[in-house]
Amino acid sequence: MEFFTTTSSASRRAAGCVVIGVYANGKLGVGATEVDAASQGAISKLVKQGDVSGRAGSSLLIAGMSGVRAQRVLIVGLGKASGFAVPQFRKAVATVASVIKDSKILDMVSYLNVEEVADTDAYYLARYTVETIGSALYLFTETKSGKQPRAAPLKKIGLAIASRSAAKKAELGAEHAQAIVDGMSLAKDLGNLPPNICTPAYLAKTAQHIDRQNKKVTTKVLGEAEIKRLGMHSFLSVTSGTTLPAKFIIMQYNGAGRDKPVVLVGKGITFDAGGISLKPGSGMDEMKYDMCGAAAVIATMAVVAKLKLSINLTVVVPACENLPSGTATRPGDIITSMSGKTIEVLNTDAEGRLILCDALTYSRRFKPEVIIDVATLTGACVIALGRHRTAVMTRSDKLANEITSAGIAADDRAWQLPISDEYDQQLKSNFADLANIGGRDGGAITAACFLSNFTEGMNWAHLDIAGTAWLSGARKGSTGRPVPMLSEFVLQRARAIP
Ligand code: BES
Ligand code: MN
Ligand code: ZN
Repeated sequence: MEFFTTTSSASRRAAGCVVIGVYANGKLGVGATEVDAASQGAISKLVKQGDVSGRAGSSLLIAGMSGVRAQRVLIVGLGKASGFAVPQFRKAVATVASVIKDSKILDMVSYLNVEEVADTDAYYLARYTVETIGSALYLFTETKSGKQPRAAPLKKIGLAIASRSAAKKAELGAEHAQAIVDGMSLAKDLGNLPPNICTPAYLAKTAQHIDRQNKKVTTKVLGEAEIKRLGMHSFLSVTSGTTLPAKFIIMQYNGAGRDKPVVLVGKGITFDAGGISLKPGSGMDEMKYDMCGAAAVIATMAVVAKLKLSINLTVVVPACENLPSGTATRPGDIITSMSGKTIEVLNTDAEGRLILCDALTYSRRFKPEVIIDVATLTGACVIALGRHRTAVMTRSDKLANEITSAGIAADDRAWQLPISDEYDQQLKSNFADLANIGGRDGGAITAACFLSNFTEGMNWAHLDIAGTAWLSGARKGSTGRPVPMLSEFVLQRARAIP
């Protein structure tokens, strides 16, 4: 995709399509006012006749409007005029995206960016526009044979700006957005690929591919012999039921000399059958998405490397499958984690924490400035928060605020759940230092408490993305979340946002 900014009026701008907005009270937006003047009141007429309502989500595409240079005019409803803010703006852009997706439009110029939008600026408006349209155009075709659904042909997005002084910010916003869209597409592809293709080795190959494309990235992939030498018996206990080899992936990006790194750890279970504590059959296919944490952190690495941010970032991914077999871990088995703590595996389906605890222990060697693990960890999280918000759990309210604020800015939201010592009771074992489950009550929280046993002294947060990483039902597919939130987090830490 190409981007440009323009100060020319909506009527005089040459383009495949100009996008203009009308509010629900009939008030014309900036671009609509310009087109209205050039077309002898065509837009006002449409409003008067009731063909254009201005309702959020509504749209009308018109070709060959007299007095207008562009081939088409797309009129979108902006909703309520008073207090026009980011969520409404994004909804309008999503409407644009859904029209563009099914059109033959090659290049568009959006005039929505010159509206008065509360609490934001030219950088974020450009970013939202490109992110919303770019991510809506995503299409997964890898595993379909025969006639492919064709991707929309859009090649160029133009952004109207009020004055030349906004150009730099808008261009930077578009550039960042494109990197984030590409990151989201990578995360979506990894999620959507079937578990017989997206294996632990495939995740490792993807990391190595990113490494080859970026000078500042160094990647190491450890095999099972090395994983064993390191004493990661908790990780190994999860992979013991499968014949696919486990991989431990470490990617390091150096963009800030000797600064302490931000460390992101991603759960990379490429298929979670539950192990001996087998899951019920219905919907089990969706457990191919159990590597979405890994996909998100690898994708965030791709974003950071692409934008050459001034930050040090380390990504750690323990990757394996969780299958039942004669060699699989049994409920009741006790294993020794890399930290030395022993764990009684009461349920082999609580495997995410078993691979993450060793990855967190391993990550100590990087002396992280901050460490965040990202995981499709618990069904309980989906019960608690539904599918709209990622759960954040940390013992640092400051870090929680930083993460939720990044989520708000990126419109990829998170919500804090507590963790505290009261919950630790639930993880007591009569036979080991810890049990790997804490019962039904507060399941997302006790999972985080389990992990916090391995993060002592580190500035750590846990993101449970079980509800947000993919959609089920007719729209089944990976969402690419929380790549926007993680990208925002590192962009802010790298001071890359104007
Ligand atoms: N990958 C699942 C969590 C999950 C389930 C995410 C459904 C999204 C939808 C995880 O490994 C798991 O199985 N967790 C168990 C934990 C329980 C045994 C304590 C769960 O949530 O049921
Ligand atoms: Mn599981
Ligand atoms: Zn799992």
